[in-house]
Amino acid sequence: MAKIILTGDRPTGRLHLGHYVGSLRRRVELQNSGEFDKIFIMIADAQALTDNADNPEKVRQNVIEVALDYLSAGLDPTKSTLFIQSQIPELCELAFYYMNLVTVQRLQRNPTVKAEIQLRGFSENAAEGDTTQRQGIPVGFFTYPISQASDITAFRATTVPAGEDQEPMIEQTREIVHKFNSTYGPTLVEPEILLPDNAACMRLPGTDGKTKMSKSLGNCIYLSDTADEVKKKVMGMYTDPDHLRVEDPGKVEGNTVFTYLDAFCRPEHFEKYLPEYPSLDELKAHYRRGGLGDVKVKRLLIAVLNEVLDPIRERRRYYETRIAEVYAMLEAGSRQAREAAAATLNDVRNAMKINYFDDKELIAAQTQAFAEKDE
Ligand code: TRP
Repeated sequence: MAKIILTGDRPTGRLHLGHYVGSLRRRVELQNSGEFDKIFIMIADAQALTDNADNPEKVRQNVIEVALDYLSAGLDPTKSTLFIQSQIPELCELAFYYMNLVTVQRLQRNPTVKAEIQLRGFSENAAEGDTTQRQGIPVGFFTYPISQASDITAFRATTVPAGEDQEPMIEQTREIVHKFNSTYGPTLVEPEILLPDNAACMRLPGTDGKTKMSKSLGNCIYLSDTADEVKKKVMGMYTDPDHLRVEDPGKVEGNTVFTYLDAFCRPEHFEKYLPEYPSLDELKAHYRRGGLGDVKVKRLLIAVLNEVLDPIRERRRYYETRIAEVYAMLEAGSRQAREAAAATLNDVRNAMKINYFDDKELIAAQTQAFAEKDE
């Protein structure tokens, strides 16, 4: 079976380091490894609209930001198909059929949906005029896991590189695939999630030490931040609040600077930036013993982050002067993606027996059946 990747992001903001270590870096590696037959990377604008219906301009502006972030991070349109979700109407049709295979109760149990209902302030009993809560849960938002199953299955994806918050979505997709295949015959491919391989990458905390890097918390380092911005953000980063003087012993667990080093640091960085330590483990040991100041560790992190971000910034500057070309690339990618989705939709229609005009046997059999009735 062909090995195929489908993954993507909602265009609700620029991409940040959490996106990078959570999935983007891995996508670029997989792209360059050549071990996949096809890679589809989707800007999920239609999904972004499920909870931004009142803010289409925000979504529209962030489509190009995310496209620039993708290209800057090293996704290469000659190797990966980059496309915009809303330009593939076949996805809506698939979702409409999948809706028959999922219960309301099952959607209500989806942990990601549950968490997002809280986070977005959707409430079933918000009072009229209450501006802190949004009235009710939009049906489109509630059913987006089904739409996501369409995204994944339309491209016959075997592998979805994504963060752990997407696990319930992949699980729900697998259930839909099972249900579809057992009802209508083997048609759809069951996908697997590909999670980051270390805990720091799985859930990169924000610069404030809060569990997650997120735009609404204002604790992000963006791929498009300048070296100066990165320096400022790292210098202000949450460390160990009890590590007051250099000589105090410090905690590494829950210390954001060390978590970031876990996510980004490679052995060669020590030779280059901090040759007096052979490895991150030694640096941590010294911090724990006491005698190692936060600033020294932060300086290392700044150097490491800028080493990662410099080539990304350079590519971004290149593409920012070629916006029309970026759109042309997305248009070509969307055309290709549409062909792939249309082929799957065709299989789905055949399996569901809603291919009336293509099914010559159906017409012949019914012609005969009605003729026999008259005899
Ligand atoms: N839900 C993803 C996000 O929040 C975006 C997305 C939409 C996606 N469809 C997908 C991710 C399919 C992986 C596979 O960013």
